[in-house]
Amino acid sequence: MKILVTGGAGFVGSALVRYLIRETDSYVVNVDSLTYAANLAALEGTDDNPRYAFEHHDITSGPHLADIFLRHRPDAVIHLAAESHVDRSIDGPRPFIDTNIVGTYMLLETSYRYYAELDCKIKKNFRFLHVSTDEVYGSLGKTGTFGEESPYKPSSPYAASKASADHLVSAWNKTYGLPTVISTSTNNYGPWQFPEKLIPTVIVKALDGLPVPLYGDGRNIRDWIYVEDHASALWRILNVGNIGERYNIGSRTELSNLDISKTICAHLDKLSPRSDGLPHEQNIVFVSDRPGHDFRYALKTDKLASELDWMPLCDLDSGIARTVSWYIDKEDWWRSVLNGSYDGRRQGLDR
Ligand SMILES: NC(=O)c1ccc[n+]([C@@H]2O[C@H](COP(=O)([O-])OP(=O)(O)OC[C@H]3O[C@@H](n4cnc5c(N)ncnc54)[C@H](O)[C@@H]3O)[C@@H](O)[C@H]2O)c1
Repeated sequence: MKILVTGGAGFVGSALVRYLIRETDSYVVNVDSLTYAANLAALEGTDDNPRYAFEHHDITSGPHLADIFLRHRPDAVIHLAAESHVDRSIDGPRPFIDTNIVGTYMLLETSYRYYAELDCKIKKNFRFLHVSTDEVYGSLGKTGTFGEESPYKPSSPYAASKASADHLVSAWNKTYGLPTVISTSTNNYGPWQFPEKLIPTVIVKALDGLPVPLYGDGRNIRDWIYVEDHASALWRILNVGNIGERYNIGSRTELSNLDISKTICAHLDKLSPRSDGLPHEQNIVFVSDRPGHDFRYALKTDKLASELDWMPLCDLDSGIARTVSWYIDKEDWWRSVLNGSYDGRRQGLDR
């Protein structure tokens, strides 16, 4: 199978590309415009594989995208390219509208025109898998979970742009018959996540002895999945998911931001203790809340388990241990990011 992956130089996309090259016989064409969030180092050791090709391209630009499809002739598309950071979407929503909505439209249109010309046998197996987020459902109270049929109620410009993209994908399926599937994942963590996101922020601030900022009172709850589990779920959905369906991906591991930060700090106490012997969690401070901050996300994941027989492999404690060790080992990488495209400053308060 030849798979065209968009956003394969990002955090989840690079984990998926590594997974596809390592665990399957697939050929991968990675289409990525290399925004600030991209990181080709995450593909070192994968990028020299003869089953891998890279196309430096912005998905919002149509004609060249069509050329990429015609040159590579993919059997499937997995669409991850996106602007992905909620705080950046609060400061400047425009790139989110451009990439997440217009870019998805361009990709759907290009995929459809390509698909329409395929011969019957290849057409039958073609799939367009759109990678979405639990944030499209909006916020939960203390109880309950979102199922695949829950109504959309996005809060942030990021979530609204992803919700728009999901609706476009469904429309291209219902109206034009493009064989699409949508996956909706909870929060990911693991290696190569850009240091502006919560888990890397906690790790790198603590390692530097700086205040570890938590929004509000730290009680907001997220449901966490190890990024390699997300990649394996996408492969499963691509292969056995049903056309027109939506699948939630999660590991039913809910934690408040404060609790996950304390868990990270406990691992840091073992792996990189402070020179003064005090626990890292002493560095946790509470800062003003994110505007429109969703209180809780939690997904019902029975459909993926029962219909597609998929379960996550990594539990939170071992996933966090691996992640913390990885950031300790890869200090050169995150320092180069902090000295380059992102200076570690808080975002999302510019309006
Ligand atoms: N990270 C999570 O916790 C999470 C959870 C659920 C869903 N998702 C979804 O997974 C996908 C990937 O998320 P991520 O965390 O890896 O994001 P990321 O920001 O780390 O990576 C995004 C990638 O897309 C590329 N990109 C952005 N705009 C592009 C454009 N116009 N053309 C081509 N490439 C472009 C970037 O260069 C980057 O490599 C997104 O669609 C996101 O909504 C992520």
